[in-house]
Amino acid sequence: MVIVYRSNTGFTRQYAEMLGKTEKMKVFPLSGAEHNVPAGEPVFYMGPLMAGHISGIDQAVKKFSVKGACGVGMSPASQQVLETLAKANYTNGAPIFYLQGGWAPKKVGWLKRRMVGMATKSMRESLRDKGSSRSPEEDRYLDFLLHGGSFVAFENLESIREWIKSL
Ligand SMILES: Cc1cc2nc3c(=O)[nH]c(=O)nc-3n(C[C@H](O)[C@H](O)[C@H](O)COP(=O)(O)O)c2cc1C
Repeated sequence: MVIVYRSNTGFTRQYAEMLGKTEKMKVFPLSGAEHNVPAGEPVFYMGPLMAGHISGIDQAVKKFSVKGACGVGMSPASQQVLETLAKANYTNGAPIFYLQGGWAPKKVGWLKRRMVGMATKSMRESLRDKGSSRSPEEDRYLDFLLHGGSFVAFENLESIREWIKSL
Protein backbone atom coordinates (compact mmCIF):
# COMPACT_ATOMS: atom_id res chain seq x y z
CA MET A 1 0.00 0.00 0.00
CA VAL A 2 1.23 3.50 -0.81
CA ILE A 3 0.07 6.88 0.47
CA VAL A 4 -1.53 9.30 -2.00
CA TYR A 5 -2.47 12.77 -0.80
CA ARG A 6 -3.67 16.19 -1.82
CA SER A 7 -2.77 19.31 0.15
CA ASN A 8 -3.57 22.95 -0.49
CA THR A 9 -1.77 24.66 2.37
CA GLY A 10 0.67 21.95 3.49
CA PHE A 11 -0.86 20.36 6.59
CA THR A 12 -2.00 17.14 4.89
CA ARG A 13 1.39 16.88 3.18
CA GLN A 14 3.11 17.06 6.57
CA TYR A 15 0.97 14.21 7.92
CA ALA A 16 1.40 12.13 4.73
CA GLU A 17 5.18 12.50 4.87
CA MET A 18 5.32 11.74 8.61
CA LEU A 19 3.19 8.63 8.15
CA GLY A 20 5.20 7.49 5.13
CA LYS A 21 8.45 7.87 7.03
CA THR A 22 7.35 6.05 10.17
CA GLU A 23 5.53 3.23 8.35
CA LYS A 24 8.08 3.03 5.52
CA MET A 25 5.48 3.64 2.84
CA LYS A 26 5.96 5.56 -0.38
CA VAL A 27 4.14 8.90 -0.58
CA PHE A 28 2.78 10.54 -3.74
CA PRO A 29 0.79 13.73 -4.37
CA LEU A 30 -2.50 13.00 -6.15
CA SER A 31 -1.58 15.34 -8.98
CA GLY A 32 0.98 13.34 -10.90
CA ALA A 33 0.17 10.07 -9.09
CA GLU A 34 -1.14 8.66 -12.37
CA HIS A 35 2.49 8.56 -13.60
CA ASN A 36 3.89 6.96 -10.45
CA VAL A 37 1.12 4.78 -9.05
CA PRO A 38 -0.47 2.11 -11.27
CA ALA A 39 -4.28 2.11 -11.59
CA GLY A 40 -5.85 -0.28 -9.07
CA GLU A 41 -2.91 -0.03 -6.65
CA PRO A 42 -3.82 -0.33 -2.92
CA VAL A 43 -3.73 3.19 -1.54
CA PHE A 44 -4.21 5.07 1.74
CA TYR A 45 -5.68 8.39 0.65
CA MET A 46 -5.32 11.63 2.63
CA GLY A 47 -6.92 14.93 1.71
CA PRO A 48 -7.93 18.29 3.23
CA LEU A 49 -11.54 18.76 4.30
CA MET A 50 -13.61 21.23 2.34
CA ALA A 51 -17.13 21.65 3.65
CA GLY A 52 -17.02 18.12 5.04
CA HIS A 53 -15.72 16.55 1.84
CA ILE A 54 -12.27 14.92 1.64
CA SER A 55 -10.79 16.81 -1.26
CA GLY A 56 -9.69 14.43 -4.05
CA ILE A 57 -11.29 11.29 -2.57
CA ASP A 58 -13.56 10.71 -5.59
CA GLN A 59 -10.62 10.78 -8.01
CA ALA A 60 -8.63 8.48 -5.76
CA VAL A 61 -11.48 5.95 -5.42
CA LYS A 62 -11.90 5.95 -9.20
CA LYS A 63 -8.22 5.35 -10.01
CA PHE A 64 -6.89 3.25 -7.15
CA SER A 65 -7.98 0.59 -4.72
CA VAL A 66 -8.53 2.84 -1.71
CA LYS A 67 -8.08 0.72 1.45
CA GLY A 68 -8.46 3.62 3.86
CA ALA A 69 -8.95 7.36 3.73
CA CYS A 70 -8.23 10.29 5.98
CA GLY A 71 -9.67 13.79 6.09
CA VAL A 72 -7.48 16.57 7.49
CA GLY A 73 -9.45 19.51 8.85
CA MET A 74 -9.21 22.39 11.26
CA SER A 75 -11.67 21.27 13.95
CA PRO A 76 -10.64 19.12 16.91
CA ALA A 77 -11.07 15.37 16.39
CA SER A 78 -14.32 13.90 17.71
CA GLN A 79 -16.72 11.03 17.17
CA GLN A 80 -19.15 13.48 15.57
CA VAL A 81 -16.58 14.60 13.00
CA LEU A 82 -15.94 10.96 12.08
CA GLU A 83 -19.67 10.25 11.68
CA THR A 84 -20.13 13.31 9.45
CA LEU A 85 -17.15 12.25 7.33
CA ALA A 86 -18.52 8.74 6.91
CA LYS A 87 -21.81 10.18 5.62
CA ALA A 88 -20.30 12.77 3.26
CA ASN A 89 -17.57 10.67 1.63
CA TYR A 90 -17.79 7.55 -0.51
CA THR A 91 -14.89 5.15 0.02
CA ASN A 92 -16.45 1.89 -1.11
CA GLY A 93 -16.52 0.62 2.47
CA ALA A 94 -12.92 1.54 3.34
CA PRO A 95 -12.45 3.01 6.85
CA ILE A 96 -12.24 6.79 7.23
CA PHE A 97 -9.95 8.54 9.70
CA TYR A 98 -9.70 12.18 10.75
CA LEU A 99 -6.70 14.30 11.70
CA GLN A 100 -6.67 17.87 12.98
CA GLY A 101 -4.39 19.81 10.67
CA GLY A 102 -4.26 23.55 10.72
CA TRP A 103 -5.59 26.78 9.33
CA ALA A 104 -3.49 29.05 7.12
CA PRO A 105 -5.69 32.06 6.26
CA LYS A 106 -2.84 33.83 4.47
CA LYS A 107 -2.35 30.93 2.08
CA VAL A 108 -5.95 30.76 0.82
CA GLY A 109 -7.83 33.21 -1.36
CA TRP A 110 -10.31 35.72 0.05
CA LEU A 111 -13.39 33.72 -0.96
CA LYS A 112 -12.24 30.58 0.84
CA ARG A 113 -11.14 32.68 3.82
CA ARG A 114 -14.63 34.13 3.94
CA MET A 115 -16.28 30.71 3.65
CA VAL A 116 -14.27 29.47 6.62
CA GLY A 117 -14.95 32.73 8.46
CA MET A 118 -18.69 32.19 8.07
CA ALA A 119 -18.49 28.51 9.06
CA THR A 120 -16.56 29.32 12.25
CA LYS A 121 -18.43 32.52 13.17
CA SER A 122 -20.66 31.08 15.89
CA MET A 123 -17.75 29.17 17.42
CA ARG A 124 -15.61 32.34 17.50
CA GLU A 125 -18.43 34.34 19.01
CA SER A 126 -19.21 31.82 21.73
CA LEU A 127 -15.50 31.59 22.64
CA ARG A 128 -15.20 35.38 22.66
CA ASP A 129 -18.29 35.72 24.86
CA LYS A 130 -16.73 33.44 27.46
CA GLY A 131 -14.12 36.13 28.11
CA SER A 132 -11.85 35.40 31.03
CA SER A 133 -13.61 32.10 31.78
CA ARG A 134 -12.01 30.54 28.67
CA SER A 135 -9.73 27.60 29.40
CA PRO A 136 -6.15 27.72 28.07
CA GLU A 137 -7.22 25.27 25.30
CA GLU A 138 -10.13 27.52 24.38
CA ASP A 139 -7.79 30.53 24.32
CA ARG A 140 -5.51 28.66 21.95
CA TYR A 141 -8.38 27.59 19.73
CA LEU A 142 -9.81 31.11 19.50
CA ASP A 143 -6.39 32.47 18.51
CA PHE A 144 -6.12 29.63 15.95
CA LEU A 145 -9.50 30.51 14.42
CA LEU A 146 -8.62 34.19 14.23
CA HIS A 147 -5.01 34.03 13.07
CA GLY A 148 -4.33 30.47 11.94
CA GLY A 149 -1.89 27.91 13.26
CA SER A 150 -1.09 24.21 13.25
CA PHE A 151 -2.22 21.25 15.32
CA VAL A 152 -0.17 18.77 13.29
CA ALA A 153 1.39 16.28 15.71
CA PHE A 154 2.96 12.86 15.28
CA GLU A 155 0.89 11.43 18.18
CA ASN A 156 -2.30 12.06 16.22
CA LEU A 157 -1.26 9.35 13.76
CA GLU A 158 -1.59 6.60 16.35
CA SER A 159 -4.94 5.10 15.32
CA ILE A 160 -3.96 5.13 11.64
CA ARG A 161 -0.65 3.44 12.45
CA GLU A 162 -2.42 0.76 14.50
CA TRP A 163 -4.84 0.14 11.65
CA ILE A 164 -1.97 -0.14 9.11
CA LYS A 165 -0.22 -2.65 11.36
CA SER A 166 -3.41 -4.71 11.68
CA LEU A 167 -3.74 -5.21 7.90
C1 LIG B 1 -13.08 26.43 1.69
C2 LIG B 1 -12.64 25.66 2.89
C3 LIG B 1 -13.51 24.77 3.51
C4 LIG B 1 -13.11 24.06 4.66
N1 LIG B 1 -13.99 23.20 5.25
C5 LIG B 1 -13.59 22.53 6.37
C6 LIG B 1 -14.47 21.61 7.01
O1 LIG B 1 -15.59 21.35 6.57
N2 LIG B 1 -14.07 21.02 8.16
C7 LIG B 1 -12.81 21.25 8.70
O2 LIG B 1 -12.50 20.70 9.76
N3 LIG B 1 -11.94 22.09 8.09
C8 LIG B 1 -12.30 22.72 6.95
N4 LIG B 1 -11.42 23.57 6.32
C9 LIG B 1 -10.04 23.72 6.86
C10 LIG B 1 -9.02 22.84 6.12
O3 LIG B 1 -9.53 21.55 5.92
C11 LIG B 1 -7.75 22.77 6.96
O4 LIG B 1 -7.15 24.05 6.96
C12 LIG B 1 -6.77 21.71 6.47
O5 LIG B 1 -5.81 21.49 7.48
C13 LIG B 1 -6.09 22.11 5.18
O6 LIG B 1 -5.22 21.08 4.78
P1 LIG B 1 -4.05 21.35 3.71
O7 LIG B 1 -3.07 22.30 4.36
O8 LIG B 1 -3.44 20.01 3.47
O9 LIG B 1 -4.67 21.92 2.49
C14 LIG B 1 -11.79 24.25 5.18
C15 LIG B 1 -10.92 25.15 4.54
C16 LIG B 1 -11.32 25.84 3.41
C17 LIG B 1 -10.34 26.79 2.75
